[in-house]
Amino acid sequence: MIKHFLDLRDYNKEELVGLVKRAIELKKGKKPKIKPGKILAMIFTKPSTRTNVSFYMAMRKLKGDALYLGSEALQLSRGETMGDTARTLSRYVDAIMIRTFSHRDVLDLAASAEVPVINGLTDLLHPCQGFGDVMTITEQKGYDYENLKVAFIGDGNNVCNSIINAAGIFGFKLTVASPEGFEPQASIVKPMAEKNKDINITNDLAQAALDADVIYTDVWVSMGDEEEEDKRIEKFGRFQVNSKLLTKAKNNVIVMHCLPANRGEEITDEVMDGLNSAVFDQAENRLYSQEAVLEELLNIK
Ligand code: CP
Ligand code: NVA
Repeated sequence: MIKHFLDLRDYNKEELVGLVKRAIELKKGKKPKIKPGKILAMIFTKPSTRTNVSFYMAMRKLKGDALYLGSEALQLSRGETMGDTARTLSRYVDAIMIRTFSHRDVLDLAASAEVPVINGLTDLLHPCQGFGDVMTITEQKGYDYENLKVAFIGDGNNVCNSIINAAGIFGFKLTVASPEGFEPQASIVKPMAEKNKDINITNDLAQAALDADVIYTDVWVSMGDEEEEDKRIEKFGRFQVNSKLLTKAKNNVIVMHCLPANRGEEITDEVMDGLNSAVFDQAENRLYSQEAVLEELLNIK
């Protein structure tokens, strides 16, 4: 059966902890055992810096290569189906990574693909980010997940959803603080809150940040939400990760942001560039965590 990486919930804790360990080994310089020459097609219908460059570099480190396919260059832009695109690309390449709007499109692509498909972000989920984030949390705070408290401040969107899924699987405590109307959806929260009683949703950011080991945030206006920008800036105004919020958390709290950031909105310069910031370690870890995922999916260990 073809293994995909579409949603963290498709993997169990043991498998994901194994991948985290492998990612940390790869970061320490362990050589991947590889069959050279594997090719990853990367479809982007939204912009990307980290996902694009880290997947490209991961494939180069695995002695393979990656092909950037902007949506305008593909017949997808003229209505070719995801299924036919998947069948065709499967004849040329060894794996497909896709970043797009609709999660359904990624499921359709995977259903017809004869090679592994990786979800590089949809409007619903960002599993590569969530997995890389657990690598960062593990590296900086250790494997005792049950005793770690994570606060997510902001939009209950794709990045938040993947952190909720990670909390359900790995077992860390998670409080999400969002403005009213922007909380994560029940279909994501409910099943994970049944697995992990320490997943909570609130509108009170100070309560979420209290004694936190990790404070995490994301932009107020995600790709595709631009029409709501004015409304969102008004609603999210208080939901900022700043020095005052950090005083609620543990002294050694780490601050995380998936990036790109809108400095001065969801996070201040002072915090982003401050001593507690793990933001660029987190960005770096996208490379090693994805290298581990690619190694697993391409079975080239
Ligand atoms: N965090 C993240 O996925 O960044 P990019 O949008 O730059 O890929
Ligand atoms: N929530 C953001 C994440 C970017 C990596 C977005 O979807 O635009």
